[in-house]
Amino acid sequence: MDWGMKNRLSRIIKPRTGHTVMLAIDHGYFLGPMTKLEKPEKTLEPLIPYADSIMLTRGVLRSSVAATIENPIVLRVSGGTSIVGENLANEGITTSMEEAIRLNAAAVALSIFVGTPHERQTLLSLSELVNQGEQYGIPVLAVTAVGKELGKRDARYLGLASRIAAELGAHIVKTYYCDDFDKVVDGCPVPIVIAGGPKLETEMDAFEMTYNAIQTGAVGVDMGRNIWQHEHSVPMIKAVRSVVHENATPKEAMDVFNQAKSGEA
Ligand code: R5P
Repeated sequence: MDWGMKNRLSRIIKPRTGHTVMLAIDHGYFLGPMTKLEKPEKTLEPLIPYADSIMLTRGVLRSSVAATIENPIVLRVSGGTSIVGENLANEGITTSMEEAIRLNAAAVALSIFVGTPHERQTLLSLSELVNQGEQYGIPVLAVTAVGKELGKRDARYLGLASRIAAELGAHIVKTYYCDDFDKVVDGCPVPIVIAGGPKLETEMDAFEMTYNAIQTGAVGVDMGRNIWQHEHSVPMIKAVRSVVHENATPKEAMDVFNQAKSGEA
């Protein structure tokens, strides 16, 4: 692997622990101004010190994030669909590699929609991005998207999609945690991070999911709603960090959460 590629990856996956807490705030690219992300800068600002990288679109990056930010940027470069449109899987590439370089992105990210009528187009987009990423030393993160079909989140489907992403050259795969997650990790030869998915019922649910994913071999999380839709978003990200980077158990993470929450008052 070339020096630039390695350097960018090590800005995202921290060499000290081999793990990462990526913060995803790219949801507006198909969901619009969703709850708590109406003003991304407001949501993001207190979380910046605790995020190993920030995943977002170029529009929000330019409009809502100061160029003095030190966190590595993972630039969402796929889209072209919306939650009210016909088919979320019908994504294309929205942002060029030159633009990603201009924005000093540490990586680019796109979604693939395996098993849909748009499987081929999204997989070829991944391959093309990897071709360009290899040329310029920019890692590519592939998201094994499920669109509205949340029920697809099982080890058989996610294992298939993750492996295909890795085979096509993705440098990091973002998928969902599921039962038998070890099978997904075992079949994927590149680092895996998990999305959080829709906000879970309790904090403990989020800590347990993170803990189980890390214990099973994920290198971290690329989490959004379970952090920033929480009314105590900073305690949430601190607690998630303790699991990802310090091997905290869910119970210990809960203590971190409670302590940080009491410090907010
Ligand atoms: C979905 O494709 C979006 O790109 C999000 O980045 C991803 O789902 C992670 O966010 P959350 O933890 O809210 O699911």
